[in-house]
Amino acid sequence: MQGTIDGMQGAAPVAAPSARTLADLAKRLYAAQRWRWRWLQSLRPYICPFGDVIALVPEKSRVLDVGCGSGLFLLMLASFGRLTRGVGFDVSTDAIAAAQAAATRLDRPELVEFSVRSVAQGIPKGDWSVVSVIDVIHHIPPAFQAGFITDLCAATPPGARLVIKDMVVTPRWRALANRMHDLLMARQWVHHAGPGQVEAWVRDPEFVCVHRSRANLLWYGHWTLVFERRAATATSR
Ligand SMILES: C[S@@+](CC[C@H](N)C(=O)[O-])C[C@H]1O[C@@H](n2cnc3c(N)ncnc32)[C@H](O)[C@@H]1O
Repeated sequence: MQGTIDGMQGAAPVAAPSARTLADLAKRLYAAQRWRWRWLQSLRPYICPFGDVIALVPEKSRVLDVGCGSGLFLLMLASFGRLTRGVGFDVSTDAIAAAQAAATRLDRPELVEFSVRSVAQGIPKGDWSVVSVIDVIHHIPPAFQAGFITDLCAATPPGARLVIKDMVVTPRWRALANRMHDLLMARQWVHHAGPGQVEAWVRDPEFVCVHRSRANLLWYGHWTLVFERRAATATSR
């Protein structure tokens, strides 16, 4: 992980699992699914720094994963014993069906649940200790991105952590490479927001940015931000 500025409170540091370990895990989790799905999920750890993001999730977390796709992040967290509860939602019915099928291969499938829902319907409130959003912002139309971040903050309870991972805006060739990827894979012309922009959108003074990093995997450029929402104090209640 490059350029980490880390002042995380209360996080038990964990070693980031390797891409190879995660790819093998993905192969097992999606083994019963269509080859394309199995192939895509097992390649994803090589182009997305999931190991680094897993290491940002404390043990025994209650995680809401927004735009969870086929559930890979929550399923990996459950497999590494980092969850007491994982809830994921995504607008894609196919992706959620894949997530639900893959969850049956966990040792403890009852730890995770997946449902079809759009962020336009709001972000569900709960006693989450972590709200994660991985590679979703660039799929949200630019006019709604700031409001999406505001909604994510509202769904992050006091004392919890908001983990955001997305694709770089600069260098422009890396952003263009990802746009081509999404044009091919998602048939969508995506709109990236940089970490500086996202930090500016997190206007709530209760949120403190405790981690910033960048990572390049092949031609894909990634940034990650972690915010902690201050626990409510007697005077602020
Ligand atoms: C690049 S995928 C990332 C999936 C997952 N977070 C991961 O990292 O594997 C982006 C996901 O965002 C989802 N998405 C896009 N717009 C959405 C919306 N309005 N509401 C919920 N999910 C959305 C897509 O269906 C897709 O699964």
